[in-house]
Amino acid sequence: MAGVLIVTGGAGFVGSHVAARLLEAGHGMRVGDALLPAAHDGRPPGMPDGAEVLVGDLRDPAVAHAAVRGVTGISHQPAIMEERMAEFATGALRAPAARG
Ligand SMILES: NC(=O)c1ccc[n+]([C@@H]2O[C@H](COP(=O)([O-])OP(=O)(O)OC[C@H]3O[C@@H](n4cnc5c(N)ncnc54)[C@H](O)[C@@H]3O)[C@@H](O)[C@H]2O)c1
Repeated sequence: MAGVLIVTGGAGFVGSHVAARLLEAGHGMRVGDALLPAAHDGRPPGMPDGAEVLVGDLRDPAVAHAAVRGVTGISHQPAIMEERMAEFATGALRAPAARG
C-alpha cells in the first residue's frame, strides 16, 4: 500500500472518480464528505468500495482534524456547484455546520 490519502468531497462527481483511481493504484483511501442533501439523494452510487468514509462538514475544525489524521496526502474536491447556489442562499446548505 502506498499510504493513506484523503479525497475531500470524495462522494461528489469529481471526488469519487479521483478516489476510485487512487484506490486502484493501491493507496489506502479515506473519503471525507458532508453528503450535502443538495448534492446527494441518499448514499451516492459513486462512493468507492474499499474507502474509509468520514461523513461530516469539513468546515468544522473537529471534522477537518479527524479527516487528515494519519494521511500522507489530500485531494481537495468539495464544492457547492453554481446550480445549487440558490439552495445555499436560502440556508439549505448551511444545515450541517449549524448542527456542529
Ligand atoms: N462536475 C464537473 O463537470 C466539473 C468540471 C470541472 C471542474 N469541476 C470542479 O470540481 C469540483 C467538484 O465538483 P463536483 O462536480 O464533483 O461537485 P459535486 O457537487 O458532485 O461534489 C461536491 C461534493 O462536495 C461535498 N461538500 C461540499 N461542501 C462540503 C463541506 N463543507 N464538507 C464536506 N463535503 C462537502 C458535497 O457533499 C459533494 O459530495 C468543483 O470545484 C468543480 O468546480 C467540476
